[in-house]
Amino acid sequence: MIVAVDGPAASGKGTLARRIATKLDFAYLDTGLLYRGVGMMVVDRGDSLDDAEAATRAALAFDPAMMDDPRLREDAAAQAASRIAGVPGVRAAMLDFQRKFGTFPPEGKKGAVLDGRDIGTVIFPNADVKLYVTADVTVRAQRRHKELLGRGTPSIYARVLQEMQERDQRDRSRSAAPLTIAPDAIVIDTSTIDVEAAFQKAMAPVLEKISRQNRAQ
Ligand code: CDP
Repeated sequence: MIVAVDGPAASGKGTLARRIATKLDFAYLDTGLLYRGVGMMVVDRGDSLDDAEAATRAALAFDPAMMDDPRLREDAAAQAASRIAGVPGVRAAMLDFQRKFGTFPPEGKKGAVLDGRDIGTVIFPNADVKLYVTADVTVRAQRRHKELLGRGTPSIYARVLQEMQERDQRDRSRSAAPLTIAPDAIVIDTSTIDVEAAFQKAMAPVLEKISRQNRAQ
């Protein structure tokens, strides 16, 4: 079983996806880490983030072990990711890993939850459940700002907001796998609800799908 969770930055999709995976004992993949990893590789190699060939070369050499690099959690990695994520060669290189992860989840798990931008539209267009998690951009920027301060990273709200708007714009307007709502996705707006309420909303269609599949067996 595949649960696809897509949405813009700081919408709460990662928290939600992780909780769903824990609840169901499914494998979980934060696909943003793949693009963050490739972005950081390009920076580390001294190449330009605007060089599509350099980004594709980095993506082809990407090792999933790099996902553990703590630098990937920083905002610089998110910005770098969004600049290379529109390169078709990068997306093609990441496709196989994601499909394998979902189709053959590690540790013999019975399903997988993947979060990203194009899971329900490109990676798994036939996912069992598709969620699109969103929130007002000012709410999302506030969340990211607080998260950064909480980690002891200096942060200016206005700057976080501006960078988030730029990143959203880039992710939505690119031609390769742009961020869009799949027609069959369930939209969860977390602007005014807490994590627990969002989790309940997300679990309802997942549990319904599981019971329908059990009945069909
Ligand atoms: O958590 P947050 O939304 O801030 O970042 P993320 O999910 O780690 O994604 C970082 C960037 O990677 C996004 O802005 C996208 O440009 C890109 N990305 C993507 O293109 N496709 C994915 N499936 C996941 C991330």
